[in-house]
Amino acid sequence: MKFSSYKARALKGSPVIPGDKSISHRSLMFGGIAIGETVIHGLLEGEDVINTADAMRAMGADIQCGEDGIWRCHGVGIGGLQEPDDVLEMGNSGTSTRLLMGLVGGHNITATFSGDASLNKRPMGRVIKPLEQMGAKIKAQDGGKLPLTITGPESTLPIEYKLPVASAQVKSCVMLAGLSAMGKTSVIETTPTRDHTENMLRAFGVPVEVEDLQDGAQRVTVTGQVDLKGTTVHVPSDPSSAAFPTVAALICEGSHIEMKNILMNDRRNGIYTTFIEMGADIEFKNERIESGEQVADLIVKGSGVLKAIDVPASRVPSMIDEFPILAVAATCAEGTTTMTGLEELRVKESDRLLMMYQGLKACGVDLEMGEDSLTIHGTGNAPKGGAEIKTALDHRIAMSFLVLGMVTSDPVTIDDVAPIKTSFPNFIDLMKELGGNMMAKND
Ligand code: S3P
Repeated sequence: MKFSSYKARALKGSPVIPGDKSISHRSLMFGGIAIGETVIHGLLEGEDVINTADAMRAMGADIQCGEDGIWRCHGVGIGGLQEPDDVLEMGNSGTSTRLLMGLVGGHNITATFSGDASLNKRPMGRVIKPLEQMGAKIKAQDGGKLPLTITGPESTLPIEYKLPVASAQVKSCVMLAGLSAMGKTSVIETTPTRDHTENMLRAFGVPVEVEDLQDGAQRVTVTGQVDLKGTTVHVPSDPSSAAFPTVAALICEGSHIEMKNILMNDRRNGIYTTFIEMGADIEFKNERIESGEQVADLIVKGSGVLKAIDVPASRVPSMIDEFPILAVAATCAEGTTTMTGLEELRVKESDRLLMMYQGLKACGVDLEMGEDSLTIHGTGNAPKGGAEIKTALDHRIAMSFLVLGMVTSDPVTIDDVAPIKTSFPNFIDLMKELGGNMMAKND
């Protein structure tokens, strides 16, 4: 369904942002292989996470959502996953696929993974390679794509693996397979990526060591064959989702919104550092640790024009999912914003560099795209808009352009609103409640 976003008034309100996607996936997977009960508060009930829950159930985990909205898992124990009867349908979710491949790679079972048109184009070679080193047998489509079938070995080999790309999904995949290995499995990352797997495994009682190496690199080591013990997880609100209403409030003058309990893990909050450097009026209150993760309450005000900035390439992993919405903010800022080191954006749910470049150009923005970079010349005023944007099954492209439409002179239309439910199912209602003016477009 097509959806249009029209100029909005100043936004006001205190929206509740849904749970963090990365933490939600991991809580179901770890709860599903733990011994005893895991109780999950605040799980993101988006399509991607539901696909993880369904796959874990298909492999024998008992996962239920109570009428109280609290999720409860009774796990099967390490080595206890059963072979699924059917293909594991992963929809749009790269995180579900790559992490679950790690779990299957640590079990002597066979599973076939498949996805939607977007996921079936994404590279899986990055997880196939280490899993084969650990003993798994994998048959994929040409170019290491889905659908693929993986059979875990009888006994998983512990390895030390140096990540060829900065990817928390690859790191997590190797660590999850390593849970079944006899001995220690290590991953070396040259640029630290999100560390929710490490944090949560510790909360489930599994030792994880982190050693600092040269030039900021780290070795993360997990000890295999240690039982996970069921625990209680409080999922904080997703900072990647909160970035959409944040930018909307920053660019709609006179806005004032408050969002509680937003995850502020320092490997996730690069976008907020960037906003502050752009002169954004954001206050971080009640900074505290909850369930082992840093969280804060945010007050965002639309007061004044943002300044352009150069985003350092070293910050990319801590804001990897936020470049589409940053591009929208940069479009309304004054001056030239440069973003570099973005090669991974080409293999997300869509080629995000290309989709942002084409969509913003169609909306009248002056910008350039390189192999791994985007340069946006902002005027300090909103662009014209008035275009229909291809979303290519990418939730973050869809939400970014609906936010842009809140300030353009002509409405912005996205060709498909459906992908948004993968990560932020109540996005449209929440934005409308704040003062957004969005509606279905019937041609
Ligand atoms: C995620 C890691 C990132 C991110 C994705 C979620 C995770 O992917 O883009 O949305 O939960 O580990 P990469 O590891 O491929 O960078």
